[in-house]
Amino acid sequence: MSDNENEKINKVKKIRIKKEKKEDVEVINLKKELKEDNSKKIKEKKKEKKEDSINICEDKEKKKKEDKKIKLNVLDLFCGCGGMSTGLKKAGLNIIAGIDIWNKAIESYESNHDHLAICDDLTKLPPKQFKKDYEVKEDIDIIVGGPPCQGFSIAGKRDKNDPRNSLFMEFYKYLEFFKPKAFIMENVIGILSMKTESGEKVIDIILEKLNKNYNCKINKLYASDFGVPQNRRRTIIIGIRKDLNIIPEEIKPLLTKEERTPVSTILEDEEDVDDKYYLSEKAILGILKKKEKSAKKGNGFGAQFLKLDEPSYTIPARYWKDGYDALVKYSDTKIRRLTILELKRIQSFPDKYIFKGNNKEIIMQIGNAVACKFAYHLGKYIIKTLQK
Ligand SMILES: C[S@@+](CC[C@H](N)C(=O)[O-])C[C@H]1O[C@@H](n2cnc3c(N)ncnc32)[C@H](O)[C@@H]1O
Repeated sequence: MSDNENEKINKVKKIRIKKEKKEDVEVINLKKELKEDNSKKIKEKKKEKKEDSINICEDKEKKKKEDKKIKLNVLDLFCGCGGMSTGLKKAGLNIIAGIDIWNKAIESYESNHDHLAICDDLTKLPPKQFKKDYEVKEDIDIIVGGPPCQGFSIAGKRDKNDPRNSLFMEFYKYLEFFKPKAFIMENVIGILSMKTESGEKVIDIILEKLNKNYNCKINKLYASDFGVPQNRRRTIIIGIRKDLNIIPEEIKPLLTKEERTPVSTILEDEEDVDDKYYLSEKAILGILKKKEKSAKKGNGFGAQFLKLDEPSYTIPARYWKDGYDALVKYSDTKIRRLTILELKRIQSFPDKYIFKGNNKEIIMQIGNAVACKFAYHLGKYIIKTLQK
């Protein structure tokens, strides 16, 4: 072999070795990558497994909690169109029936709820008969209701403002018969200062009865403190059956004044509001004249314009008359009443909630109702209290 040939062979060998070395490095790198990949995958798998087992644990915990959750049956007396029932149901309570004397309110009630909706006069439907006629088999755990406490007398001569002669007694009879674990009694704030003709405080007479078997707590609350875009101040009496040894705590507002929901959040766009909601020139002039007159006399006049950055004034059942309790004012010449949709929203009914009756009847039902969101929080409170 010539020197030249030898040199060539050596060169080829060197190149091969170099190539092999390079391939080796590549293989090593690849293997390294694979190893890293694998350990990453393994790590991920391990993490997944851990998460799976955590999920299983959480599911088990959830199930345990659910099993522990007691089903609480509710009877809604003077249920109206169902504001209270709607909120309580959302809170997790099981409503078994609602009773009201007003057929339109009951028609609305049953259009939105699957349980029993009974149209009857509670003064003529004693609890025993209700249980028998409607074959009520379940225990009633909670009775709720807002018995109208004024202006009702079963015996003409007696004091019609005395709760012993009022619908409060029907509510009380149901408590005595079913002996529920708890009750929620809703009423206007004025019930706390109301007096009978003989000068006795109505609330004292009511409490004397309720305190017999229940630990009671009176709460003065604003619905707006619970996210309702309306002030609506109400008296809420909570009672817990004495043998349960639970003293009901005061219901605390959820929000601060600054956190309340302003009415602007529920108003319809100006262009979507039908002309029929706008006040006529004559009506606006009438308001202005009355305002002037009462300003001179130094007293306020009933027409109230909404402050858009605050919750609405309370919507009463009489809102259908003229809407003066809460008007939307765009300018001195452009003033309107609230639409039905806005009234529903102010009471925190879902937009799709069905109301039966004519305009007046619908507004009365809405104005009578317990705001659903407020009722929801009352429901949550009562569940928590009973699960102590
Ligand atoms: C303040 S409203 C109740 C509103 C209801 N809690 C809601 O959230 O929608 C009072 C209701 O008591 C009803 N009522 C008045 N007298 C009654 C009676 N004798 N028997 C049954 N219901 C009666 C009225 O028809 C009215 O719907």
